[in-house]
Amino acid sequence: MAAQELQETARAIVAEGKGILAADESDSTIKKRFDSIDVESTEEDRRAYRDLLFTTEGVEEYISGVILFDETIRQKSADGTPFPELLASKGIIPGIKVDKGAKPLALAEDETITEGLDGLRERLAEYRELGARFAKWRAVISIGKSIPSEYCIWTNAHALARYAALSEEAGLVPIVEPEVLMDGDHTIERSFQVTSHTLHAVFTELRDQRIHPEGILLKPNMVLPGYEGSEQVSDEEIAHQTVQCFLRHVPAMVPGIVFLSGGQSEVEATENLNAINRVGGPWPLSFSYGRALQASALQAWGGEPDNVDAGQDAFLHRARMNALAVAGDWSAEVEQAVPA
Ligand code: 13P
Repeated sequence: MAAQELQETARAIVAEGKGILAADESDSTIKKRFDSIDVESTEEDRRAYRDLLFTTEGVEEYISGVILFDETIRQKSADGTPFPELLASKGIIPGIKVDKGAKPLALAEDETITEGLDGLRERLAEYRELGARFAKWRAVISIGKSIPSEYCIWTNAHALARYAALSEEAGLVPIVEPEVLMDGDHTIERSFQVTSHTLHAVFTELRDQRIHPEGILLKPNMVLPGYEGSEQVSDEEIAHQTVQCFLRHVPAMVPGIVFLSGGQSEVEATENLNAINRVGGPWPLSFSYGRALQASALQAWGGEPDNVDAGQDAFLHRARMNALAVAGDWSAEVEQAVPA
């Protein structure tokens, strides 16, 4: 019964070409985003900004789930409705970030391990009580001259599986996020190799720790050349490499793959997702974007109550573009077209 509920929730998240809004920026990350628009990061401004996103009319046509941060899941909309209740009333499934961030990995240079396992069983029970139906944990793998190490890949995979097991036990769909960062000047082949190695470790640990693959969603990076490199690669090639990599490692039983945007521009993230869906695979291939759904909305809002409508228009547009990309129906022309 519990396994069936997990599978139903996971399938609902990737149903009908919909995807996830990642609005789970930690205090330090949201401060960075607010710094970029010269807005002080106060609790009220963080609440008002998330309220803008969640009350966007019609966004539920394209967004099936929202990942919240610990502070946000306890906050309320302007009319006093708790955020998880507001989202659920629109048919959007509330989720929660449960890791406590990537910390320096002991006895390793320039590598991190994600923390947050202590007390996790109790926190998951409370989040479920607060309305969450899925939980996210992000592991970070960096590419450099002599990294990632085997040590970093396997310790992160082990922690991801420990969280995923606790999450399934608590009746929350684990959104398993092993992010291979695209910072650096590496080639797309190197990105393929490191992503492949990471996925191998993650699915080995998930299996060893008894996770039901049909009750999870995978949130990975796309296979891209490093952002600081000079290699020019077409969206078709990115799509081909990405799908090949996941076909090798991800069981067909996994209900969906929801990509992170990872520092791509808004349009790049949409264009690549569209190309990936034109190649296709045995799973729905959707999005769980943070920056690539919010960058224009944040700019349009700029912390001004008078700009809430402009911020919501920008967010709705990106959500719609990415939903079209999930169907493989996005184009540069629809990107430009002004909605009727
Ligand atoms: P980006 O899409 O901005 O990479 O964020 C997604 C996310 O949730 C990272 O953990």
